[in-house]
Amino acid sequence: CFLSSVLCLVLSEPVEGEEAEDISRSHFPDGFLFGTTTSAYQEDIELMHSLGVDAYRFSISWTRILPRGRFGEVNPMGIMFYNRILDHLLLKGIEPFVTIHHHDIPQELAERYGGWLSPLMQEDFVHFARICFESFGHKVKYWVTINEANLFVEMAYIRGWYPPSHCSPPFGNCSAGNSNVEPLIALHNMILAHGKAVKIYRQEFQGKQGGSVGIVVHAMWYEPLRANNELDQQAVTRGLAFGVGWLLDPLVYGDYPSEMRLFLGDALPRFTVDEIDYVKGSIDYIGINHYLTLYAKDCLHSSCPPGGSDHAIRGYVYFTGDRDGVPIGQPTANPGFFVVPGGLEKTVNYMKQRYNNMPMYVTENGYAPPPDEAVQLQQILHDVKRINYHKSYLAAVASSIRDGADVRGYFAWSLMDNFEWVDGYTLRYGLYYVDRRTLKRIPKISALWYRDFLAHSSGNA
Ligand code: NOJ
Repeated sequence: CFLSSVLCLVLSEPVEGEEAEDISRSHFPDGFLFGTTTSAYQEDIELMHSLGVDAYRFSISWTRILPRGRFGEVNPMGIMFYNRILDHLLLKGIEPFVTIHHHDIPQELAERYGGWLSPLMQEDFVHFARICFESFGHKVKYWVTINEANLFVEMAYIRGWYPPSHCSPPFGNCSAGNSNVEPLIALHNMILAHGKAVKIYRQEFQGKQGGSVGIVVHAMWYEPLRANNELDQQAVTRGLAFGVGWLLDPLVYGDYPSEMRLFLGDALPRFTVDEIDYVKGSIDYIGINHYLTLYAKDCLHSSCPPGGSDHAIRGYVYFTGDRDGVPIGQPTANPGFFVVPGGLEKTVNYMKQRYNNMPMYVTENGYAPPPDEAVQLQQILHDVKRINYHKSYLAAVASSIRDGADVRGYFAWSLMDNFEWVDGYTLRYGLYYVDRRTLKRIPKISALWYRDFLAHSSGNA
């Protein structure tokens, strides 16, 4: 151990709640990509280089390239900005893993036709994606079309948390109410937009640029609330179909999961024959963002607490983080997120089964400490729990690979403390601490651990 004595001591601590497990690069196949991730709102190449990462996943800000969407000119400064980033990454030997759309859209598209609720957004996205392929494609080997489309529509059109802050019954306390078909329409438009962009990429760019294209799904895992209960086991199956399957089934098989059709009927849009032609088979790999495992309870045959679970759009499933008051895992900053490393292994195995072991990348996985554990700077920098988190989740990924899953990369969220959407700057996911006043970046001990892990091909890094 070549690091400071405090850090070496920390590195020898066992993973909390788990058997102490050695995890090192040697547990992963040759060519496995280790990286860090941010969205368009952060970037710091020298930090990543000093960590020794193989890859960096980031997103392109739509507005920086097309301030007015299709209704205005391309911003040459934006193109130059991302070309500089790409050149710098390649110079440092860091593979760019580029997300085209990670939540943000030009304001004009929201004002003109309500963003993703309109089918016109498909053409906007295709226009934007084409510019990205043309301008950056010769430098990018890994494209993600859209980040967490399934979570985005839940936040924007069911829960009313992300703009445009619509909510669907029974989440009725939002400023703008609407019908519960909105999330279904918005995701349908995103799926078609993805399919059209991929068709163009494959026809016009992939041959000469040689990259691959995938999508990132927000993938939770579920355990039955009542252990060994058949109905809750079915609730788990439905929860997965209404989450992961909602987005990925069309892209792999050309239609939504049968469970969704059963409960949602004609409210769930249908794909035309022409659409199936370009949507089906439109991903080369699956990007998995995994943060949490919850318990699932059946609400079709048994009663559930009020608050959303007794509704078709939730698949009549109630989700909770505790069983008889006992949390499913260690708490994190987000009240709904718990540390359950085995959930990632089960998620990967589920994807392996459901999608014929298509190549997978864990495109995000990370930890933010509960607020009362991140008050003093010393405390924040001494983030033993984050180290244990990544060690235990990496061990879960390594175990799924041993069982034959085709997982090809792991990206820690996040490189540094970031802007956490509606939570603003209150949560700290970073391997690096960011002083909000000076913008200075200070490595937490997790950054030093990741550097040490990446530098060693064997041993208990
Ligand atoms: C997933 C999202 O892609 C990312 O933007 C967000 O910051 C993390 N989850 C943490 O919540």
